Amino acid sequence: MKTEILKIDINNIDAEKIKYSAEVIKSGGLVAFPTETVYGLGANGLDEKAVKKIFEAKGRPSDNPLILHIADRKQVFELAKDVPSNAGKLMDSFWPGPLTMIFNKAQNVPGVISAGLDTVALRMPSHPIALALIKESGVPIAAPSANTSGRPSPTNAKHVIEDLSGKIDVIIDAGNAKIGLESTVLDVTVDPPVVLRPGGITLKQIGDVIGHADIDPTLMTKAEGDFRPRSPGMKYKHYSPKADVIIVEGSPDRVLQKIKELVCMHSQKGKTVGVLATDQTKELYPSVEVISLGDRDKLETVAANLFWALREFDKKNVDIIVAEAVDYEGIGLAVMNRMKKAAAYNIIKA
Ligand code: TXA
Ligand code: MG
Repeated sequence: MKTEILKIDINNIDAEKIKYSAEVIKSGGLVAFPTETVYGLGANGLDEKAVKKIFEAKGRPSDNPLILHIADRKQVFELAKDVPSNAGKLMDSFWPGPLTMIFNKAQNVPGVISAGLDTVALRMPSHPIALALIKESGVPIAAPSANTSGRPSPTNAKHVIEDLSGKIDVIIDAGNAKIGLESTVLDVTVDPPVVLRPGGITLKQIGDVIGHADIDPTLMTKAEGDFRPRSPGMKYKHYSPKADVIIVEGSPDRVLQKIKELVCMHSQKGKTVGVLATDQTKELYPSVEVISLGDRDKLETVAANLFWALREFDKKNVDIIVAEAVDYEGIGLAVMNRMKKAAAYNIIKA
């Protein structure tokens, strides 16, 4: 299949290109499109055959449910069986935006979307191109991140091309995704709601609106034994670059020292080592490949650069990436959740 690449300017959206892409969606095709979090791989969410193509193109396990993206709040009432009052308040505050909410599903949601669960994930993205595409299509758009399953999520069209060129109909290229990490997934079928995946909207922001939200206890630690996460996606290998990732956590001095030791040790064994650093430390690791995530005090920047950096290391063909942990505050929780998954929970305390 030849994949068409359509460049669209976020500040001057070409209506013809949106119309064309919406036609592809309506006729059962696949369109990768930008959102404010990461690029999504979209299909008509009410067309079972089209949705199945998403799973094929990504190599995604069929028991991992998909998010339906909507552009109008009326669609919630068509896709969810009931809308708890907490959900209404959160929509007022965070939609459109990087918050996905889990509802009890209505009957017209195809089984392939919810992967056999009784629930459905809904999100209204804020990216104007995503909103325009959903509106023009006239259907909810099912969209996981537009990467090959297991790889770091795509934060620009080049990443999508790397993973999915030749497998999908259209890729809309609109530059870099602003947030760079996926939406927060919040189960609102329970009270208090439970965060199943930390993301663009922080626990504190949610708490400020509804008083309190819990956090799924399996989020930050390795799954042991008979582990059944409430968000099926959490049990899979994720965000993985080709290299093995090791995270080093602790006070700045000791982290620096420990990383230098690790670089030395692995280099002596003949391995190529890369360091995932921050602006504060990037000059301090001589003679290895260093990529900075940005100023460690600006966690938004760190979040926006993480998936890009993991993919950059792939191009440099390193065998091992040693990564500095960052603060767990705010969006740092989402950064560390993704970093830990990329490292398969290989963490060293310095
Ligand atoms: O920011 C985002 O959310 C991006 C953009 C494209 O919108 N999408 C995204 O989709 O990250 P995906 O499929 O890569 O991740 C969705 C996560 C998965 O972990 C999945 O298991 C979970 O949401 N999920 C989807 N439906 C669910 C449901 N009914 N119950 C629990 N978890 C669900
Ligand atoms: Mg994903």
